[in-house]
Amino acid sequence: MADLTIQGLTKRFGGVTAVEGVDLHVADGEFVTLLGPSGCGKSTTLAAVAGLDRADGGRIQVGDRVYFDAAKGIYLPPEARNCGLVFQSYALWPHMTVADNVAFPLTLRKVPAAERRRRIEEVLALVEMERYAARYPHELSGGQQQRVALARTLVYRPAILLLDEPLSNLDAKLRDRARAWLAELRTRLGLTTIYVTHDQIEALSLSDRIVVMNGGHIAQIGAPQQIYEQPADPFVADFIGTTNFLPARVVGAAPAGGRAVLELADGQRLETVAGRAAAAGERVTLAYRPEQMRVATPGAGAGEGPGEGPGEGSVLATRITSRSYVGGQWQVGLDLAGAAIRLEARTPPAGDTLDLWLPHAGGILFRGGADVAA
Ligand SMILES: Nc1ncnc2c1ncn2[C@@H]1O[C@H](COP(=O)(O)OP(=O)(O)O)[C@@H](O)[C@H]1O
Ligand SMILES: [Mg+2]
Repeated sequence: MADLTIQGLTKRFGGVTAVEGVDLHVADGEFVTLLGPSGCGKSTTLAAVAGLDRADGGRIQVGDRVYFDAAKGIYLPPEARNCGLVFQSYALWPHMTVADNVAFPLTLRKVPAAERRRRIEEVLALVEMERYAARYPHELSGGQQQRVALARTLVYRPAILLLDEPLSNLDAKLRDRARAWLAELRTRLGLTTIYVTHDQIEALSLSDRIVVMNGGHIAQIGAPQQIYEQPADPFVADFIGTTNFLPARVVGAAPAGGRAVLELADGQRLETVAGRAAAAGERVTLAYRPEQMRVATPGAGAGEGPGEGPGEGSVLATRITSRSYVGGQWQVGLDLAGAAIRLEARTPPAGDTLDLWLPHAGGILFRGGADVAA
């Protein structure tokens, strides 16, 4: 096992800069996920660590071994790096049994037969496939094939594990189960891992830390809860979970931690605890998660909704644009001063309008107008 350091990683394909200036340290035994939309540079980063692709700039080190250093002209070929790589396509050899597939990397490394048998048994038990050793890949489900692919990688004891969207070929149900299984396996393995996905649920549920990427850059690095609750910018807020964005103008300035008064496009006002200083006249975007918003009840200030006591909040007039039952609750579309808002409610609201309650604390204030999709 080993830690991984990536410094200033840059990779271009012709005129396209796939990754630029990526810095990342993954601690020994840590599970870090690269998360972001398609084309943001996740696979390029992983391929550079594995040595499948030679980067244009930067440095990559695993433990005390330098894999790549552009400035010093160091580039280790993939076979000298000891990375365990698993892709979304299982790529098992169809004409070989499970046991033979798993044996292959050991045969290549000239591991003696007795030791080979012991390790195959051990690794198949680890991925809970020991009963399937004699089967052929076509006799297995997609999830089982992916476990074998993982076993084939783990069997040669890589220094680090690199997983590129390993569950994305599975259908939704299988994928859920595979994710739960992987979450359990990763704690038993304790292997330094970089996991690539565009699926936020996978990222949130599996990772020690998440690296959110956007256009070849790192947008934010943090623990899952931190990324979800304190997104660094509107891109992260929008990509992880559902976020309601309210474009507004500051009318009552506040220092960081103070209470700012904001005005919406239609003149309605609300208060918010400003995470950073807000200057009078400044254009801002206030972000709330759907679960932070409630239907206001007359007099009480806050109405129905899950969670603890209502605390202090603002009540705002909205127009109802849609209602859909999503199982266990309703998703209500609202128009608030021209912004599209998504609210969760236990019962469908009646009428065309709704008074919305927003807590003073808990919203996130971003600088600038909303150029994010509402
Ligand atoms: N072999 C390649 N040739 C040209 N462009 C590439 C190649 N591989 C990746 N790219 C481009 O680099 C960018 C990042 O790609 P990639 O790392 O595969 O994204 P992700 O894995 O996040 O979906 C994209 O714009 C992609 O089109
Ligand atoms: Mg990719």
